[in-house]
Amino acid sequence: TAPAAVIVAIDGPSGTGKSSTSKAVAAKLGLSYLDTGAQYRAITWWMLNNGIDVADPVAIADAAGKPVIVSGTDPSAPTITVDGIDASGPIRTQEVTSKVSAVSAVPEVRTLITELQRSIAKGAALGIVVEGRDIGTTVLPDADLKIFLTASPEARAARRSGELKGADVSATREALLKRDAADSSRKTSPLAKADDAVEVDTSDLTLDQVIECVVTLVEGKRAAK
Ligand code: DC
Repeated sequence: TAPAAVIVAIDGPSGTGKSSTSKAVAAKLGLSYLDTGAQYRAITWWMLNNGIDVADPVAIADAAGKPVIVSGTDPSAPTITVDGIDASGPIRTQEVTSKVSAVSAVPEVRTLITELQRSIAKGAALGIVVEGRDIGTTVLPDADLKIFLTASPEARAARRSGELKGADVSATREALLKRDAADSSRKTSPLAKADDAVEVDTSDLTLDQVIECVVTLVEGKRAAK
């Protein structure tokens, strides 16, 4: 018999290995994958392209329902389109990264994106790994397994500046801590560990070790279903 669908929520700040871990775990176990940060980035990219003042929460709320965001759920080729246009590249620019916390703090944006996330998770026949900031607490509070990844600011900054190919580590560290502070302190579903999440500190672990650890936890949950 086919294994029961399993819903896995992986939350934590940036630079903890969340995306790499989530994709690899989904690919290994034959699950779908959803990058919820990419959705907030996509809506931010659309706002910037359409002349919406991202310092104005009312303007953001008014425009929030306009872009059509479609997320692919294949962990080996994650895609995202906005109004039919592939946005996978442009959503990673520095400009989007510096504005995404302000846009994602607006409740109307969160409500729309949360509904989208729930319907994608529901449609994943074999199960899904959903990564973000509020998945275990708000989007999928009944997930079968909740993981909260952490790492020291030093480890996170080193990883991020490696990804950004030689970016200054201390500037990266400041930008990262600033975004975490904004994401953790917003009123609507902030970055937070769910009470029933398993916390994994990845500072001194290799990516393979983190993947192994999460795969073991998912397999345990699957066996118990
Ligand atoms: O994971 P990321 O760096 O691509 O996420 C970009 C931003 O999106 C992050 O700074 C906060 C926001 N976000 C959120 O508010 N809720 C989520 N579930 C995922 C991301």
